[in-house]
Amino acid sequence: MAKRKTGRFITFEGTEGAGKSTLIAAVETALVRRGIDCVRTREPGGNPTAEKIREVILSSAMNPWTELFLYEAARAEHLAQTILPALAAGKVVLCDRFTDSSLAYQGQGRGLPWKQIQALNEIATQGLEPDLTVWLDIDPAEGLSHAREITRFEKEGVIFQSRVRQGFARARRESPARWLKLQARSATPEALAEKVVEAWLKQQAKIASKKAPRRKPNQKSSKKIRTGSPRTKASGPRKRGGSRGRS
Ligand code: TYD
Repeated sequence: MAKRKTGRFITFEGTEGAGKSTLIAAVETALVRRGIDCVRTREPGGNPTAEKIREVILSSAMNPWTELFLYEAARAEHLAQTILPALAAGKVVLCDRFTDSSLAYQGQGRGLPWKQIQALNEIATQGLEPDLTVWLDIDPAEGLSHAREITRFEKEGVIFQSRVRQGFARARRESPARWLKLQARSATPEALAEKVVEAWLKQQAKIASKKAPRRKPNQKSSKKIRTGSPRTKASGPRKRGGSRGRS
């Protein structure tokens, strides 16, 4: 298992052309406005060695297993050099793609066995899972018409992208609690970003309430009753010192 983290980890997933980068930038702006320290990163990539692996992956077609191992190798490096240190420093990490992309692209898209990809994901991430995964969904044909950069994955076409989309749906069915599905272009990036921040704050409040010590029903508190205003969503999460519920 990865070392205990105090920050929070939000990943963004989706097929090509959904507008993930714009959404991530808007989420970062919205969090920074609330005084929350963020690190924005991406997969494959996110640190010098992983960016080199990214170039190899995107440069030419290869055996699907080779492709998967390269994504996992880049991920292991990204995790160790970028994600874990940022989380340990109490930051919110916003990551453009993560393990669910391997399941969707190499699993559902290329047909590699789902369970084996899950096992490799687990090894590469030392068991770290996102706290929240935002799926920015778009019709694959529409997405491809918006794609700004044409890599070999966009060239695979609509049928491949449709399989990948089914892959995200399957990953979401398997762990629904951490997913937030948004319809791409259903609102401005700023409005979509607010939905992400709201979902995230709600999740933080839930985690905080689970951690709060419970008093026995007949146990009287010696403390004075507080009359100040309750902690609101807008007051934001505690930034440091908490540990999350999972490891
Ligand atoms: P990129 O240009 O970053 O695409 P996007 O802007 O859509 O995120 O290229 C990354 C490509 O790698 C993208 O097509 C999805 C693919 N990918 C996988 O196939 N498996 C993975 O595990 C990851 C992280 C990405």
